[in-house]
Formats: sequence, C-alpha cells, structure tokens
Amino acid sequence: MTDTPTGHARRRFLMGAAGFAATPLVAGLAAGCTIEPTPRDTGTDEPDGDTRANAITAAITVTSRRTLGSLEVSGIGLGCQTMTGKLYGPVTSRADMITLIRAAHDQGVTFFDTAEAYGPFESERIVGEALEPIRDQVVIASKFGFDIDPVTGQRRGGPNSRPDHIRTSVDGMLQRLRTDHIDLLYQHHVDPTVPIEDVAGTVKDLIAQGKVGHFGLSEPGPQTVRRAHAVQPLTAIQNEYSMLWRGPEREILPLCEELGIGFVPWAPLGMGFTTGTITPYTRFAEGDFRAAVPRYNAANLAANMPLVQLIQDWAVRKGATPAQLSLAWLMAQHPWIVPIPSTTRTGHLAENLGDHARTGQLARPPGDGAALGRRGESSRW
Ligand SMILES: NC(=O)c1ccc[n+]([C@@H]2O[C@H](COP(=O)([O-])OP(=O)(O)OC[C@H]3O[C@@H](n4cnc5c(N)ncnc54)[C@H](OP(=O)(O)O)[C@@H]3O)[C@@H](O)[C@H]2O)c1
Repeated sequence: MTDTPTGHARRRFLMGAAGFAATPLVAGLAAGCTIEPTPRDTGTDEPDGDTRANAITAAITVTSRRTLGSLEVSGIGLGCQTMTGKLYGPVTSRADMITLIRAAHDQGVTFFDTAEAYGPFESERIVGEALEPIRDQVVIASKFGFDIDPVTGQRRGGPNSRPDHIRTSVDGMLQRLRTDHIDLLYQHHVDPTVPIEDVAGTVKDLIAQGKVGHFGLSEPGPQTVRRAHAVQPLTAIQNEYSMLWRGPEREILPLCEELGIGFVPWAPLGMGFTTGTITPYTRFAEGDFRAAVPRYNAANLAANMPLVQLIQDWAVRKGATPAQLSLAWLMAQHPWIVPIPSTTRTGHLAENLGDHARTGQLARPPGDGAALGRRGESSRW
C-alpha cells in the first residue's frame, strides 16, 4: 500500500469495507436468509477503532496473498462452475472461457475452483486446458463426492465417497486437469453411508502418494469437521457465505478459527444478487438454476431488495461497485477467507478483481451490469 493519493483512496475504500463488515445487515431477509438487527450506520469511513479490521484491511486485494491452512493463494479466487454454460445459461464459447481463466491469472488470481460434478467433467477440462501452460504458478481445487460414472460422466444420483470411488475419481480428475496433482481436494458433499474417517484416510493416502496436496470439505457439519480433521488436517472448508446467506457465522467460522482451517465462500455474490444486477422484476429463464430457488422468486426478490439498496448505498460511498463491496465484506470478516466469485465475462472479472478500486477511478453507479436470467440446468452441484 502506497501513500500516494491513489493509495489513500484505496485505503479509505478498504477501511470503509471493514467498517461496513462490522455492521449488521438488513432485518428480516426472506427465504431462509439470516435475520439480523437493523443496520447501524456509523457515518464514518473509520472501522470503529477495531484493530482486527485494521489488520484485515491491509490484505483485501486480489494480489495480496492469503493462506488457507498452510496453502497460499490469491486474495480472491475464480469459481469455474458456470463456464460449462449449464448452470446460469450459455457462455459465449469454450475458447472464451479459457481466455478468461488466463486473464484472471494475468490479473493476479492464482486460485481456481472446479469439481468433477461441474458439467460433469467439462469444467475440469476447461480449467485443465487453460492452466496447463502455467500449472506451476497456480493452485487448483477440485471436488469428489457424487455418484458420477467415471467413464461416461453420467450422474447416477446421490453421494458416493466410497474409498475406491474417490481413488477412481481422482485419477480421472488428474487426466482432465492435465496435471499430476490436485492442490486442494474437497469432499463435495458428505456421504452418510461412509464414515468421514474413511474419507479422510483415503485422502491422506492420496496425499502420501503425491496425487493430492491438501484436504477440504464442503458443507460439512461441525462434528464431521472435527472427526475428519483428527485423521487428516483440513486446509479449507467451502460453504455458501455472502451478505445474502450468513449461515457459517454461527458454528463453522468459529470452528475454522479454532482449528486453523481456511474458509472459501461459494456464491460470494449471492449468485449475482448482491451485485445489484438482479431486480424485483428479474425472471430467470426456464432451466436457470435460480429459477427453482425460493430465494429468487418474485416475492422474495422484492422482500430482499433492502439489502441490495444497502449495498448500493455503501458502494457509492466507498467508490466501489456492489460486487466489489460484496467481496471486500467477505474478506474483511477474517484474513483466512478467500471468496471464489464466478463470472463468464471479462468485464465482470476485472470489476471483481477490483481494478477500479485499486486505481480510485471507479465512477460507475451500481446497477447497470449485464442482463441476467437467461439460462441454466437442473442440477446444481
Ligand atoms: N461447494 C459447493 O457446493 C459449491 C456450490 C456452488 C458453487 N460453488 C463454487 O462457487 C463458485 C461461485 O458460485 P456461483 O457462481 O454460484 O455464485 P456467485 O459467484 O455468487 O455469482 C455468480 C453470478 O454473478 C454474476 N456476476 C459475477 N460478477 C458480476 C459482476 N461484477 N456484476 C454483475 N454480475 C456478476 C455472474 O454472471 P456473469 O457470468 O454474467 O458474470 C453469475 O451469474 C462456483 O463457480 C463454484 O466454483 C461451490
């Protein structure tokens, strides 16, 4: 951080974001969102004398590195699920997605998130092709845990974390990702039929073989975390977390802090909601995953708009976009949180990585982003 005027502008934005992070959000959000007290507006850019916030603000940039457990990654990662064109709708082209991933790396991103279930397989193939030339400069995270035919990619339904299936899945991942190791391997979904100790033990063996670097869990319960961590220390937990969904604050984030586990919020932009580009009048196309999520039906969108308004107001005050403020808010919660926003557009990529905030040139009012609601597939994870 410099002391140039630009540096001051950036620092004011970051400190403001941390101050904002310390405030509760909107009361009574609809459809399963957390209920919080009325917002407290301090009317100041200063973080209420909070030394934790001061320490955190120094690290809220994509180029500053963060650590998940012992794994060093960029401050913001890139989610690569939507690049298959099967979740929120079609993408311009596969080649464009490969270009976008490389553009992210050029702009400082070293942390890329995928899973065998995305596509299935296609997201891993795109990530593998994009990152092959720069493999030694990046951290690749992928996930096993669903019952997917390892040859055809057909979804057979439900979870599958049997040790033999994990080993077969990982071998397939290595081929698709064009690498000899996966830096961070998550169990995507807890399998109630397989003790987590067996899952952790299998990943421990894969680590010993050099096929896997680190172990993670997605959406686990606290007891599962403790039991897995006792067998093979966890590097990261990946759960949904955003200003729209604050569930991890109750148990999982305190547990991460206690055990020294990093945290990776998925859907850090509320699947686009906290960017201000979704309005009460937005309707998602048939097949767009969000069309089936109660949180995004017409009534709940309207009910949740006060949160968007709050984010937009604070973003204007901090010289940022709502998407940037959304990511800064997450990063200000703890220095070991690394959000993985997804995008299929280079403009959104640059915005999410904070170019405008870094240069202090941000002038665009929130809410004029790209159109949403055009696409989708039936299965999410
Ligand atoms: N562990 C799990 O179970 C799990 C579950 C879901 C997701 N994930 C991971 O988390 C990643 C992110 O989650 P997500 O994609 O569901 O949600 P997200 O990152 O919160 O939101 C993505 C949506 O926001 C839009 N967007 C991105 N930047 C924007 C900007 N600056 N302005 C306006 N709109 C913007 C994107 O559209 P454009 O493409 O048009 O930019 C897309 O529709 C996934 O890629 C995946 O890797 C993990």
